Amino acid sequence: MSIIHTCGFLLILVLRFASTLANQHTYIVYFRGHSRDKTPSEVEDVHLSHIELVKGSREEAKASLLYSYKKVINGFSAMLSPEEATQLSGMEGVASVIRTDPRGYQLHTSRSWDFVSTLDQDNGEGGQWNDRLHKKLLRKAKYGQDLIVGVLDSGIWPESASFKDGGMEPVPSTWKGKCQTGTNFKKSHCNRKIIGAQYFIKGFEAQYGSLNKSEDYRSPRDKNGHGTHTASTIGGRRVHNVSAIGGFAPGTVSGGVPLVRLAIYKVCWAPPGSKGGTACMPADILAAIEAAVNDGVHVMSMSIGSTPAQPYDGDMIAIGSLAAIKENVVSVCSAGNSGPTPSLIGNVAPWVLTVAASSLDRDFPAFLVLGNGQKFQGQSVTSFQTPQTHPLVIGSDVEIKGTTNVNTTGYCKEGTLLSSAVKGKIVLCKGEFPGNDWEVKQVGGAGVIQVIKLANVTQSAYSPLLLPGLAISMADAFKVISYARTHKNPTVTLFPGKTSLSGSEPAPQMAWFSSRGPNNLNPNILKPDITAPGLNILAAWSEGTSPTPLVADHRVAKYNILSGTSMSCPHVSASVLLLKAIHPSWSSAAVRSALMTTAGTKNNKGTLIRNEVGNEATAFDYGSGHIRPYRAVDPGLVYDATFDDYALFLCSGGYDFAVDHECPKNPPSPSDLNYPSLAISNLKGKRTVLRTVTNVGKGKSVYNVTVVSPTGYSVNIAPKTLYFGKVGEKKNFTVSVEGNTKEKGKYAFGWFEWRDGIHSVRSPIVVSSK
Ligand SMILES: *[C@@H]1O[C@H](CO)[C@@H](O)[C@H](O)[C@H]1NC(C)=O
Ligand SMILES: *[C@@H]1O[C@H](CO)[C@@H](O)[C@H](O)[C@H]1NC(C)=O
Ligand SMILES: *[C@@H]1O[C@H](CO)[C@@H](O)[C@H](O)[C@H]1NC(C)=O
Ligand SMILES: *[C@@H]1O[C@H](CO)[C@@H](O)[C@H](O)[C@H]1NC(C)=O
Repeated sequence: MSIIHTCGFLLILVLRFASTLANQHTYIVYFRGHSRDKTPSEVEDVHLSHIELVKGSREEAKASLLYSYKKVINGFSAMLSPEEATQLSGMEGVASVIRTDPRGYQLHTSRSWDFVSTLDQDNGEGGQWNDRLHKKLLRKAKYGQDLIVGVLDSGIWPESASFKDGGMEPVPSTWKGKCQTGTNFKKSHCNRKIIGAQYFIKGFEAQYGSLNKSEDYRSPRDKNGHGTHTASTIGGRRVHNVSAIGGFAPGTVSGGVPLVRLAIYKVCWAPPGSKGGTACMPADILAAIEAAVNDGVHVMSMSIGSTPAQPYDGDMIAIGSLAAIKENVVSVCSAGNSGPTPSLIGNVAPWVLTVAASSLDRDFPAFLVLGNGQKFQGQSVTSFQTPQTHPLVIGSDVEIKGTTNVNTTGYCKEGTLLSSAVKGKIVLCKGEFPGNDWEVKQVGGAGVIQVIKLANVTQSAYSPLLLPGLAISMADAFKVISYARTHKNPTVTLFPGKTSLSGSEPAPQMAWFSSRGPNNLNPNILKPDITAPGLNILAAWSEGTSPTPLVADHRVAKYNILSGTSMSCPHVSASVLLLKAIHPSWSSAAVRSALMTTAGTKNNKGTLIRNEVGNEATAFDYGSGHIRPYRAVDPGLVYDATFDDYALFLCSGGYDFAVDHECPKNPPSPSDLNYPSLAISNLKGKRTVLRTVTNVGKGKSVYNVTVVSPTGYSVNIAPKTLYFGKVGEKKNFTVSVEGNTKEKGKYAFGWFEWRDGIHSVRSPIVVSSK
């Protein structure tokens, strides 16, 4: 009898547990205003009391609470049912109840990682961080030694030579963070370079269950490699004689600010069975931002995002970054890798710097020669020392029947190639699917030719293949295929690639994957803001993984080449740190303005920066242009803005969560936000917007404006001359845009620029008509 009873009891328990779990989701609840008079534990108590009201008991409230946020926002994350969430949203003082996206945010490495390349080389020419001007700037900024950057990412590989602390000064006294230990991570892994390391996993485990310890480390240690790569791009030490697998891009590697202090916040984790994939949960990101701001970081670098942009009140990067504005912390975010399709750009809040990706003046030419003597230039970072001559076959001709369809034929996907037809041969494969090199290798192929679906093969994001190979363009591939199919015993010779700094291609050029405007969430704010190198970037890597996410890849690499806006974001973070070091009192908006108004729109050939197909790029590709940190240090004028300006901006979009009480009845138009660029969408007739510039140059100065109106519009700026008597003085001007285009919804591009003979303060204009 008692056994039956126990069984019944258990059954009920299990059922209840199951139904509860199935109905529970991660919600973020936040309150209007702050409880500044309360201690942290009193605030947490208020949060728990709210959850208790809907859960019925204190124990359940405690069990469902993930984080109590006290600093950047007043709110919490918890596991709630939709009904409980609705109840909470009706409670007094609750500003928002957000159900978070169960997929979380993603890291912004290139979405096809099936390729590779470099940066940061000190080879006498080129090299993003190593030119004379950059060195001058570094000295002025004391190499960033007094500044702290918070890197929200997949953690860090602390043994990398890029993170040694030899010769560094003691940790700045302003630092309030900590070094959290865990799997394979000890206190001693923190040093004067990695001054802090923490991990945030509650949101991840609430979604995915306990971390699988063979897929990730339960600690700040980086399994994925991404976090190590971004952190070293910002602040890695100078390391000599470094190269990627295969000896590519040999030279000295250095972060942008080699003595800056790194504060690591691990928020991205490997979901079960994801093979190198990551999920960065909103609840964890918000907790990390709170910790970072509390700990005293100066800049937050976030190569993380979601596509497309989420509403501001549901986007924890936006919410956290807004609160960070109050502490003058600058947030730098990647634009995403959803290009070149328009409008998919993420991280579009006007209080973050949104970074697009473009190329460097460096490539990896490699050649192939067909049996008939025809020669084609491709690209390769795959290591093989001697030319490889073998029979040539085309992937789609050597498939196992029934393993492919019209959409997958020719890609050499796993399990599709016929071993007997491939053994000892070089296979031509369509390049869009990752891992076709692995398939060719496992069926005994001798080499692979990948076909890149891009106008120029130099636009490819390469990765080191598992066997000899190179990438060629589609146009060349047609010729290779034609040769293979019309000759009796077709052969091909693959020649090893090499690193070329000759800059045959104009650079920068926009990377094809870089996410584009217009800003879908608010077309009256131009995004992206700026571009920086993000194509084929060499930086430090985790030795806990291989250089590609292929399960079959067992290589270990101390340095690796990656592509994505994830890689361009840390370049801008480093630039921001330089500016902060030289101008510690500047606001977050002033720093962003300085970088944007001094950005360049020309390439190293002196012509306008082009997009991936060779057309002139627009502000929707690169915002204000390519970073020029040495100019940004002395911008002349800045477009400043405060937290209250952003709160009003949010009011104009119907969001009242950032104001303590109520939004004004008639908030200013979003175009009126004092932004360093100007976007007006759906213009009908005429619109006049206001801007204010602050003099940060020399005391007495006279600025005159130059305007290039977007085609089909007239732009009038008044006054046309601004007189400044002293530093810190502010002047207003208006920009009137009048439309007479009949092409509805089509965007036109122009710009205006203030000049005083020394400084050029440039702002792009984009306009569309109703
Ligand atoms: C953890 O991951 C490993 C490797 O991917 C896998 O073999 C194992 O089954 C996973 N364990 C669990 C409990 O899911
Ligand atoms: C660089 O490293 C390679 C391989 O580790 C070594 O053979 C070479 O001598 C090194 N060169 C210098 C200048 O240290
Ligand atoms: C191939 O792709 C097209 C377009 O995405 C789709 O409609 C079609 O069903 C696919 N065919 C097969 C056999 O998967
Ligand atoms: C591609 O590269 C070739 C030679 O390297 C160059 O002449 C051509 O203009 C490039 N095309 C585009 C679309 O950028």
